[in-house]
Amino acid sequence: MPRMGHTLSLLLRSAAVIGVLAATPAMAEPTVEVLHFWTSGGESRAVNVLRQDFEKAGGKWIDAPVAGGGGDAASTVLRSRVLAGDAPNAVQLKGPSIKEWAEQGVLAPLDSVAKAENWDQLVPPQLQQVIKSDGHYVAVPVNIHRVNWLWSNPAALAKVGAQPPKTWEEFNAVATKLKAAGIVPLAHGGQPWQDATIFETVVLGLGGSEFYKKALVDLDEKALTSDTMVKVFDQMRTIRGFVDNGFSNREWNLATAMVMKGDAAMQIMGDWAKGELVAAGKVPGKDVLCTTTPGSDGFLLNSDSFVMFTAKDKDRTAGQMLLAKLMLGEKFQHEFNLTKGSIPARMTLPMDGFDACAQKSSQDLKQAIGAKTLMPSMAHEMAVPGSVRGAFLDVVTAHFNSDMSSKDAVKRLAEAVTLAR
Ligand code: GAL
Repeated sequence: MPRMGHTLSLLLRSAAVIGVLAATPAMAEPTVEVLHFWTSGGESRAVNVLRQDFEKAGGKWIDAPVAGGGGDAASTVLRSRVLAGDAPNAVQLKGPSIKEWAEQGVLAPLDSVAKAENWDQLVPPQLQQVIKSDGHYVAVPVNIHRVNWLWSNPAALAKVGAQPPKTWEEFNAVATKLKAAGIVPLAHGGQPWQDATIFETVVLGLGGSEFYKKALVDLDEKALTSDTMVKVFDQMRTIRGFVDNGFSNREWNLATAMVMKGDAAMQIMGDWAKGELVAAGKVPGKDVLCTTTPGSDGFLLNSDSFVMFTAKDKDRTAGQMLLAKLMLGEKFQHEFNLTKGSIPARMTLPMDGFDACAQKSSQDLKQAIGAKTLMPSMAHEMAVPGSVRGAFLDVVTAHFNSDMSSKDAVKRLAEAVTLAR
């Protein structure tokens, strides 16, 4: 066979290469639309950490924020978008609602990422139960928040010679002194999820973690109608006397700002409040103190996680898998949690660089796991299905904003919970 001329052979070979290239589908451009409710100052900084990480890794981020702390508004948007056949690709979701959505068959399994990244070794078993459905990973946890924190302004407390109260009795005494001195004792935002946040810390503080579990997790009727529960509502009524007139419908971060500025002495809120302190350049544990809510003998757990709604477009599925991988990565878990106020969900990550409140959270978490006093937060959707949580929120808020007696509240609560189950 005559030898082909050198140039011709090169030409033919490059034509063949071009042909192969043309037949190869274009590389996917990982893209995700992310539905979240992180819109306060500290929360937005945290979400930016995530976004930048994703974009640095070549992803395209489409932001879909829904304002409103606690995420109740975001849940409504999610439901209507799914019904309209327009599910976002990545969605902030937690607790039992993860399994509820998984049972609808609309969540993408994350087992391949989980296996490649060794999630079995990284995620605490208590969280694995939450983020798996039928043995498959369907969500990726980004953090561990503690709900039962009392934030206090040391200068405001010092005006009445007080320290952060350790029991509800002490709390009432300190708050009474503050009120008499013209200082708002408790910064609060009157929204159902914020009322419920205080309520569950009172349940824990007055009843103890075993009682908390019976009443707010197992929904035991005896516990729900007990004298302890009557006392819980009595304490809620007392607390109502310690909030300022402008409390109604105030966002939680504005309440945090009141404590930062010394306009109020204390706030009961999860450690996302710390995200606001950090964003404002305050030193947590010094400028604003972090102690556990009065009488706490445990750790009220709230963990944010993301699920991926099944997508057909290959750019979207590539984006979802990339996001899932990054979210449990060391760099992201470190930077994100420093900003968010939480501690890493990646349990093997060292706590270097975290502030005093985060260190306490991490130690108390380990202690609570050992002592079996780690309890899922009812107010933050970790403990019971949405319908039951809704029943709690309705009664707690109705009681807080009226002169309903504690006995009536207990009766209504037990009825509402039974109906919602
Ligand atoms: C919680 C959520 C936190 C937080 C807070 C206020 O339920 O887990 O991440 O930011 O609501 O929006």
